[in-house]
Amino acid sequence: MFHTIETLPADPILGLNQTFQKDNNPEKINLSVGVYQNASGQTPIFSAVKKAEQQLIDGQMTKTYAPQAGDPAFLDHIARLLLSTPVVAQLGDRLATVMTPGGCGALRMGAELLVSTGFKGKVWVSNPTWANHFPLLQSAGLSLTTYRYYDANIRGVDFAAMLEDLQQIPEGDVVLLHGCCHNPTGADITPEQWDQVINVLAERKLVPFIDVAYQGFGQGLDEDAYGVRQAVAKLPEVLIANSCSKNFGLYRERTGAVMMLCESAKQTNAAKSHVMSAARRCYSMSPYHGGGIVGHLLSDDVLTVEWKTELNQVRERMQMLRQGLAEGLNQAQSKMNFDFVARSNGMFCYLGIPRDDVLTLRSDFAIYLLESTRINIAGLSEDNLPVIVERVSEVLTR
Ligand code: LMR
Repeated sequence: MFHTIETLPADPILGLNQTFQKDNNPEKINLSVGVYQNASGQTPIFSAVKKAEQQLIDGQMTKTYAPQAGDPAFLDHIARLLLSTPVVAQLGDRLATVMTPGGCGALRMGAELLVSTGFKGKVWVSNPTWANHFPLLQSAGLSLTTYRYYDANIRGVDFAAMLEDLQQIPEGDVVLLHGCCHNPTGADITPEQWDQVINVLAERKLVPFIDVAYQGFGQGLDEDAYGVRQAVAKLPEVLIANSCSKNFGLYRERTGAVMMLCESAKQTNAAKSHVMSAARRCYSMSPYHGGGIVGHLLSDDVLTVEWKTELNQVRERMQMLRQGLAEGLNQAQSKMNFDFVARSNGMFCYLGIPRDDVLTLRSDFAIYLLESTRINIAGLSEDNLPVIVERVSEVLTR
């Protein structure tokens, strides 16, 4: 059976992280995979999450199956956290939420739903987009193509080009949008630009599939949800993939949700039945633990306040690190201006240096960033920032 099977190339993000783990250089620096690290290089458990987890475990009397769609408290609270309580009330039974194994599971279940409707159009993704969007959605049977988004010359979104491309998309196609903190570029559209995008989606009868993996990592929990909230308020059909990996720090617990908004409660019910059927044939039901923690935490006002305070600290620290990197690089060399690093949002940005320099940073200094030049801002620290500034400036001016 397996005599002829060939080993596949490593995943561009997880593979680089593994290479980093194996590197014996004591001075190595990991700016690859999107994981938050504190000043000591640890990925701590949020203290509110730890307390919620303990209370959950203490109160748990059984390990029997949870409802297949997920913990009801989780489903209720996660929809309200993302879309707000009044918007969820307004949508009523037109909105359904199903827990999934992480944001990847949500994307995959959304893709399975699209395939099950007989959808034959294309899913349009930003150029560039998160590397895993392609295999994740294509292997469900969807066909992907790109719309223009990031312009390396202006080191930001070329919004005119984006809008022009969206206006050409055939009616009924699906447009994948990053809810906030665009991965990999960190370049987001403004609220006014979201309004314009939503108008085009409405005019052209396009269906948004909004990937929200970093709510609270950009400008704030509500600010980061502007686009997705406007989309559900204004459009008849919306798909959402939500992740709790980053904002609750639940990476390994694989906690996410797919949300479906259809024109009627009847359609939503039918769509949900297809998601549940897809889950059943792929993995039956999502792991419970992470959703149990989030549901418990968000049901408790004190824990919720504590978590929001911690999340704010994480966001502010990342903004401080961005600022520090931009200023440090601008002062240390004059070949490139790095102001855009301070302007970008969330966990990532493109450093925009030549690809050869990325490889030199890895080979000569054990500084790991993706070949696209994406860096994980949360991999920076007060300690390693001066080293990174020095090394990047050195390779740039060699
Ligand atoms: C990333 O982009 O680094 C994260 O979303 C982790 C992952 O699974 O790729």
